[in-house]
Amino acid sequence: MRRTIDWADGAVVVIDQTALPGAYRLLELRTVGELVDAVKRLAVRGAPALGAAGALGVALSAHLDSDVRRDAELLAHARPTAVNLAWGVERALGKLHQGKDAVLAEALALLDEDERLNKTASAHAAEIVLAECPRRPLRLLSHCNAGRLATVGWGSALGVVWHLHARGLVGEVLVDETRPLLQGARLTAWELAQENVPYRVQPDGAAAAAMARGMVDCVLVGADRIAANGDVANKIGTYGLAIAAKHHGVPFVVVAPSSTVDTKLADGTGVVIEERDARELTGYAGTPITPEDARVFNPAFDVTPFELVTAVVTEHGRFAP
Ligand code: MRU
Repeated sequence: MRRTIDWADGAVVVIDQTALPGAYRLLELRTVGELVDAVKRLAVRGAPALGAAGALGVALSAHLDSDVRRDAELLAHARPTAVNLAWGVERALGKLHQGKDAVLAEALALLDEDERLNKTASAHAAEIVLAECPRRPLRLLSHCNAGRLATVGWGSALGVVWHLHARGLVGEVLVDETRPLLQGARLTAWELAQENVPYRVQPDGAAAAAMARGMVDCVLVGADRIAANGDVANKIGTYGLAIAAKHHGVPFVVVAPSSTVDTKLADGTGVVIEERDARELTGYAGTPITPEDARVFNPAFDVTPFELVTAVVTEHGRFAP
């Protein structure tokens, strides 16, 4: 299976996530402007994949002999919430004084690492899920997409599903569709189908009802930024899910590589939440669905307080705030 984001022949190559599941196509991004645009449009998305985009973007800029520091600024600010983006930029930038080959080597090392660390983090999380949830086979609930497509490869929260499925332990994954951009319905469902994991897509609003009916053994989500106290910023709707899970006594497990931990942030109140274009809500597949000029509130992320989380898991195991 190819990587979600990679370097080939002087270009950053990404799987175009705006086209899935209807079409599987690659985008060859040959300028930093094209890469920044791809990040803003969510053609490449998910915190760990954004870290790779940041690092490869700096490598691309150096390769083109551009103004690397100016490009690094543009890249780091393309989206504000996932800390991995600026982290990836900074990491590659740290090699600039050694020349462009060193920058590229660092970016490629980051890509290798991402795959490896997500595999380890999700293996730790799989053990925690097995310890917390006695029922077999497991009925899991996923929100947004924290799979291969959100990382360089393997995945974080969905990586747990791959580990458990390989052991024949997954009965079903309930996939929140994840309004408004449908990362669950379009991307997570596509990944689960590829791996023959049984799943059902549900409207986001059905998640609490599924828990009330006893249909969920564990909620698994990724993260965009984890504060030092363990508060978790993730796709909008995660906070509501965590409240519902607490109410119903369902374990709520967050899986992320340690690059998603922002040790400079004391708690989740300091996370900058991206607000996206009103048109993501006022229309559906090109058809208007609100009164003309309806005003909207369209935050892309929310913050879940650590006390609602059963475990935050990185490649080092359970995260201790
Ligand atoms: O807006 P997106 O699609 O980039 O949001 C992605 C998420 O919220 C994911 O859950 C998060 O980045 C973790 S991905 C391993």
